[in-house]
Amino acid sequence: MKTFLSPTIRRIRLFVGFCRHYIGSQACCALRHYRALAGRVPEERRWEFAAYRHLTEELRRQTDPQGSPFYFFHVYSEVVQMARQHGHEPRRVLELGPGASLGVLFCFVAAGVERAVGVDVEPVQHNPEFYSVLKDYLASVGGFRWWRLCAVDGRRPGVRYPGCWESADAQALLDRIEYRAPVYAHDLPFGDGEFDFIYSNAAMEHFDQPEKAVQEIRRVLAPGGITTHEIDLSHHQPGHPLQHLRWSRDEYQRLTQKYGGGHGIENILNGTWTDLPYCNRLLAGDWHRIFVEAGLEVLRLEVVSEVDPATINPSDLAEPYCRRSCEELAPLVIRIIARRTDAAE
Ligand SMILES: C[S@@+](CC[C@H](N)C(=O)[O-])C[C@H]1O[C@@H](n2cnc3c(N)ncnc32)[C@H](O)[C@@H]1O
Repeated sequence: MKTFLSPTIRRIRLFVGFCRHYIGSQACCALRHYRALAGRVPEERRWEFAAYRHLTEELRRQTDPQGSPFYFFHVYSEVVQMARQHGHEPRRVLELGPGASLGVLFCFVAAGVERAVGVDVEPVQHNPEFYSVLKDYLASVGGFRWWRLCAVDGRRPGVRYPGCWESADAQALLDRIEYRAPVYAHDLPFGDGEFDFIYSNAAMEHFDQPEKAVQEIRRVLAPGGITTHEIDLSHHQPGHPLQHLRWSRDEYQRLTQKYGGGHGIENILNGTWTDLPYCNRLLAGDWHRIFVEAGLEVLRLEVVSEVDPATINPSDLAEPYCRRSCEELAPLVIRIIARRTDAAE
């Protein structure tokens, strides 16, 4: 009896100890998340949701957002979603101002686009190791077009999947991206209508000739093509989000440094960029007007974040911003989605 009970009791003890420790810590964590989310998740999904959230937070904590595959895959997903919402499937893609990484374009190549091109005013050396990690990340989130093929067919003896992500070569995918720099968005070295999809992320606010850049976008966009841009209108340093509108034009020119001519994202990342990065200080309404005047149809202007208009006092701001309304000044990050509706010239 003794010999039978001992291992069983030991097992039960072990199991109870494990439950106390594991369930205890999980329950605390789940409860914390549950409280934070207070009723936004349906009852039957609360435990599952808490566990996912915990995992995601841990992964986020371990990676620098802008250097992580998450960032680029999620920018890619959002950009593609915007195109698809307007019935467009990107095939010949141009990114303006990719900066330190071609990660978003890499996702486009992995998804099977015909052509992926990136242009920037300042050349950047891209780290090939990062794209190996991104390739694996795409495999795990189903970012490759051919991933579904394997998932549906399963493993069959004698059947090979030559297009599967495991045989994809990150360097070969990277080599398919045409990267050109220095190139200014207001002077694109492409023929009329070469792309059916043009996008940028946190780049347009830095363009020093925004009107000409949008005219160029329209020119190189094929009729029916879509263009999407996330634009950060806020002050690009800690402090009040409208601080940059408090300086007069001359003061602002003195305090800022433009991208290009040896100043690039690498200087920001390694801390050798000393002045404020130049922004054109256009407001959401100005961007809308510029797109319309360039002959593009604005399909949507979405405000991603904004200052509460009730807290804005225009008289704190310099000319001409002091004459704009609180509602005009409020948007901080916007997304603009436009289409070229006219025929080619
Ligand atoms: C803040 S970084 C954004 C980088 C990247 N898109 C991201 O999401 O991390 C802005 C980029 O725009 C580029 N840029 C600035 N002015 C430009 C112009 N006139 N034409 C093309 N690129 C420009 C800069 O060199 C820089 O790489």
